[in-house]
Amino acid sequence: MTLYDNHNRPLTYVRLAVTDRCNLRCFYCMPAEGIQYLPKRELLTFEEIKRTIALLARLGISKVRLTGGEPFVRMDLMRLIRNLVEIPGVNDLHITTNGVLTAPHVAELKRLGIASVNLSLDTLDAERFKLITRRAEFGPVMRTLELLLKHDIPTKINAVVMEGKNIDDILPLVQLTQQHAVDVRFIEEMPFNGEGSHYPTLHWNYARILSYLKEHHPGLYKIPDPANATATEYAVPGYKGTVGIIAAFSRTFCGTCNRIRITAQGTLKTCLYDEGVLDIRQLLRSGASDDVITEKLLQAFRQRPKDGFEAEASRSNHLPAHESMSTIGG
Ligand code: GTP
Ligand code: 5AD
Ligand code: SF4
Repeated sequence: MTLYDNHNRPLTYVRLAVTDRCNLRCFYCMPAEGIQYLPKRELLTFEEIKRTIALLARLGISKVRLTGGEPFVRMDLMRLIRNLVEIPGVNDLHITTNGVLTAPHVAELKRLGIASVNLSLDTLDAERFKLITRRAEFGPVMRTLELLLKHDIPTKINAVVMEGKNIDDILPLVQLTQQHAVDVRFIEEMPFNGEGSHYPTLHWNYARILSYLKEHHPGLYKIPDPANATATEYAVPGYKGTVGIIAAFSRTFCGTCNRIRITAQGTLKTCLYDEGVLDIRQLLRSGASDDVITEKLLQAFRQRPKDGFEAEASRSNHLPAHESMSTIGG
């Protein structure tokens, strides 16, 4: 059974943030001093997460991605993962991580059948890593990458492209795909840095990223994109991996958007750019039955904005979205 929204888009994918906390301070996501973190009681508990995911799986939402903040900052995350893979209807479980604390868990993730890991990595240079993330954790992140590849876990690298920060990393990141079957994805910067003052200049939109790639790799060729993908995928002839571009700010892929989000405090977002459309935590804690929660979810799915622009326009303060990506869940 497939669930459809009011724009006839299948809804098959939920992104759930398990925490708003992070052990890095990437400047495009958070100010240096961090953000005001939620008190623990405001986070969905593991029991609440399991119940929510089970209800969604019954509706046909079969792809689950754990995000954050940094998911591995949440205590005992692996216990939650062991439970989620058991839920009937959860066909594939994915995780987006910064890789700092992930390495010790890679072997178990493989055993549990994790479908893929997306690793946030904007640079292959230790010094630039420190400048971008404001932390010196490059070594552990590279160790995670090495282990993911060693265990043959499908791996995507997410690199946000930023003028003056990591342009010199674009080609070395592409080079990784020569020897490794990894998907390196270059992402347009979005306005979610937790400070209203900053709005991305978008010096590097997808068109510029693509022409830069083609200039340096004239043989770059288009490969088919998986259904409902955020990235437009390419490959360099003879290379084992692939190279993608995510027009996250231009929002060119909204027409096939199959995803909903649940923030760490249990708010449903039916678009990355909306301000939250349903307080699931409140429903769960008020003793609502499965049927009542399911009906509220379905109502929200019937009122999805058609794209990120419409979602942004619907915000009550009419201001552009600017919360930290860490509270949204990416
Ligand atoms: P796959 O499931 O592997 O396709 O991953 P994904 O692209 O859905 O997720 P990931 O967590 O790796 O996110 C990569 C980048 O795409 C991040 O910068 C996300 O914020 C951005 N992104 C993910 N989903 C959406 C979306 O629905 N809209 C927009 N505008 N950006 C998104
Ligand atoms: N713009 C684009 N991507 C971002 N991410 C975090 N903040 C931003 C932003 N402002 C990315 C991270 C991570 C993914 C979930 O979102 O790099 O890989
Ligand atoms: Fe979906 Fe909104 Fe992202 Fe567009 S901007 S792809 S509608 S979440």
